[in-house]
Amino acid sequence: MTSLVTKVHVPRLVGHRGAKASAPENTLAGIRRAREEGAAWVEFDVKLTADGHPILMHDDTLDRTTDGRGLVAAASLEDIRRLDAGTRFSPAFRGERVPLLSEALGVLAELDMGFNLEIKPCKGREVETAQAAMATLAAHWPMHRPIPIVSSFSQDSLAAARGDGPDRAMFGYLADALPAGWKDEAVRLGCQSVHLGWRNLTRRQVSAVKQAGFLLLVWTVNELPRARELLEWGADAVISDCPAALVGL
Ligand code: G3P
Ligand code: MG
Repeated sequence: MTSLVTKVHVPRLVGHRGAKASAPENTLAGIRRAREEGAAWVEFDVKLTADGHPILMHDDTLDRTTDGRGLVAAASLEDIRRLDAGTRFSPAFRGERVPLLSEALGVLAELDMGFNLEIKPCKGREVETAQAAMATLAAHWPMHRPIPIVSSFSQDSLAAARGDGPDRAMFGYLADALPAGWKDEAVRLGCQSVHLGWRNLTRRQVSAVKQAGFLLLVWTVNELPRARELLEWGADAVISDCPAALVGL
């Protein structure tokens, strides 16, 4: 089948949550570290503060990655900006803040990087999160920059994101493992890439995704032999916590 992919170049190596193994995840320091380690693209997660600001954050709660506690969806931007998002990873990163999406886009532009923005909505905020993320992209990521991939496990988020900015991004169908009916869903959602977990992925599935014309990104791949095998099978890129370990793929 002819490729569905028309307008994006994704490098083989994409940093996961920045460079999760060597810097606090979903921070500006993590994005910079990924660049230093040789990744030209990063993946990161976006959700909303209580007052509707898109920030980089993976979990529904603040507890694991910051010195705060409680639900992200119940905390205002002002509250979240006071938190330390570095020390739990390492005291060397004390003072690192939870970034706004707009700030992350500024650093990505400064470093001439590309990215995979994963919409990671808190429950019930699927559409709102997608709309805020796309509005921020429209305001802070000029069209002359490399077109990003916007992905999500949430089909409601993907549909809303695409509805708001069909030309602003390429859209990625994200799943742990390839479910039945994946192709129809990915086409219905206007996706041009498929993003799958590596653990249960087979060579046959890689071929099926590629033959259907999609880009294939595989996460989270941290070992060089496994990364090489996946690329040899036909995957386009691996998303890794430790880009330094995979440089030269
Ligand atoms: O986007 C790929 C990967 O990040 C999805 O899983 O939980 O690390 O966001 P998670
Ligand atoms: Mg993610």
